Amino acid sequence: MSTEDPNRFSVSEREGLFKAIRERRDVRSEFLADPIAPDVLVRLLRAAHHAPSVGLMQPWDFILIDDVELRRSVKAIFDDENEKAARNYQNDRGADYRRLKLEGILESPINLCVTCDRSRGGPHVLGRNSIFDTDIFSVCLGIQNLWLTARAEGLGVGWVSILDQTRLATALDLPDEVYPVAYLCIGYVSEFRDRPELEAKGWRRRLPLGDLVHANGWGRKPTDPSIAAAIEESGPLSTSASKGRVSG
Ligand SMILES: Cc1cc2nc3c(=O)[nH]c(=O)nc-3n(C[C@H](O)[C@H](O)[C@H](O)COP(=O)(O)O)c2cc1C
Repeated sequence: MSTEDPNRFSVSEREGLFKAIRERRDVRSEFLADPIAPDVLVRLLRAAHHAPSVGLMQPWDFILIDDVELRRSVKAIFDDENEKAARNYQNDRGADYRRLKLEGILESPINLCVTCDRSRGGPHVLGRNSIFDTDIFSVCLGIQNLWLTARAEGLGVGWVSILDQTRLATALDLPDEVYPVAYLCIGYVSEFRDRPELEAKGWRRRLPLGDLVHANGWGRKPTDPSIAAAIEESGPLSTSASKGRVSG
């Protein structure tokens, strides 16, 4: 018999969270030009600002970019870098790569650069003594918060990383200590795909979870057969696939 756990979200709350996680997509092809209301945009930023950060460093800043000329210069940086990237692939794979749409810089109504101020909080940030890059990890968590919140608000987000960071930093007048972690395109969309665009276009597939779970060291399968069985049985992320806390 199960007792209600007061710490656990209700079924509908959990379903909402899982839906945002399941149905979040990286969007490049489906942007609409419709403007985003300021209060919605601010909710996205507030969600990012609620992320965990090493030593409560909060190393993020958010640069909103609606200026078309500036977006054109960023698109030019993308085009140069994408040409270089395309040369990594030959024959059919190269042709496939060039057919992919990998940014929505001009089609989306707003671009957002999320940066990491590597000096915020002074030289000794609690928890950052051993792993210097924990500031960047923190910014990535903020980005994921924003991405999931955007999905819940019906907004698409596309992360463009095919950019020369030095040229981008110059275009955005970033101080030396500020690193541009993510360049995001944000906007309403004609549709959300039901699976990653790269999967739909045959580039790469989601790996089976069971192949990625180890126990007590790399390459060792869990000895508890019920974990492997639960992975086998579980379908898409949802409350129906989660029985919750195991009771005695
Ligand atoms: C750090 C990072 C960088 C990415 N850079 C790009 C990019 O430059 N262009 C692009 O089209 N997608 C980019 N993506 C999106 C991934 O291709 C996408 O997340 C992945 O294919 C899974 O699809 P989904 O996000 O729709 O589930 C990036 C994603 C991450 C997390």
